[in-house]
Amino acid sequence: MDSNNDLEALKTRLLADLDACEAASGAGLDDLKAKYLGKKGEIYGLMRGMGALPADQRPVFGAAVNVLRDLAEERLAALEAGAAEAAILEKLSASTLDATLPGTRAEMGHLHPLTLVRDDTIDFFRGMGFELAEAREVDHDFYNFEALNIPPDHPARDMHDTFYVDENVVMRTHTSNTQAHYLVEHEPGPVRILAPGCVYRVDNDASHAPMFQQVECLVVDENITFAHLKGTMLLWAEHVFGKGTRLRIRPSYFPFTEPSAEVDVSCSLCGGSGCRLCKNSGWIEVGGCGSVDPAVFEKVGWDPEKYTGFAFGFGIDRIALLKYGIPNIGLLTRNEVRFLRQF
Ligand code: PHE
Repeated sequence: MDSNNDLEALKTRLLADLDACEAASGAGLDDLKAKYLGKKGEIYGLMRGMGALPADQRPVFGAAVNVLRDLAEERLAALEAGAAEAAILEKLSASTLDATLPGTRAEMGHLHPLTLVRDDTIDFFRGMGFELAEAREVDHDFYNFEALNIPPDHPARDMHDTFYVDENVVMRTHTSNTQAHYLVEHEPGPVRILAPGCVYRVDNDASHAPMFQQVECLVVDENITFAHLKGTMLLWAEHVFGKGTRLRIRPSYFPFTEPSAEVDVSCSLCGGSGCRLCKNSGWIEVGGCGSVDPAVFEKVGWDPEKYTGFAFGFGIDRIALLKYGIPNIGLLTRNEVRFLRQF
């Protein structure tokens, strides 16, 4: 039968072409597809020729053509998948990615030493139940001086080297103005606040900058004593400078505390034996402190018979110098990147 011979011959050619294509890693695959499976391809050609067969032979022949078409489709699809995979492998083997080469490092930013000290102190006092308080950097004379028992003409004003904005307005010379604001703005009751911030004084040398940061602490309640002050400061100093750090509390004078004291911390660089940082004294002054003077409670309308309290104000810059062994306070605000990178 002619048609059956055609079918056999076609099958032989198809298989040979498929094998050749496979051997050539799928080259000519598209042509092969068109040649056998296309609308004008050979398999459809056979189907079209089926009309010439006697009717009783058509079903058998048709089934045989279908088997051949399925075979062609299956093998071509497999070849196609193989070719796609081969293309990916080739691309991969051609690329020159070397995972062992060092990458480009992203520049990491970090916090300024003053911010580190400030945040650390805030964390520490928050942990003891203190609340953060704020007051203005440009403030009325009343809060910076008057309410803190420093009337006009008081000699203590000389210590402060004040920047005056006008007769009654100053750049605050200390964070103690936060004490005055807080007490004026709240009803009498227990107080536990911490107030970090910038302060300003007409001053500029290796250990004094015209702008620097302080952290103020104020505690008020019934029966607060100097012992509470000492214990609080010692806990803080050990937290910042490590266990074994000692405090030296020297009698001093501030109009808003009575008794008043200046606070030194044992030098963290030499441990107290004397070095360049502590100018051979073994101690570094960090600020002032004392029990709240009853005159302050009177000024702000709190009952000095009922309430007592303590306050301290430390220089954050001083603490940073001490903690990191920095010899000059100006380095903290010069924004010299080679210096700042070290923290
Ligand atoms: N405000 C004082 C200063 O800047 C420090 C201080 C704060 C003293 C609180 C006593 C109580 O020098």
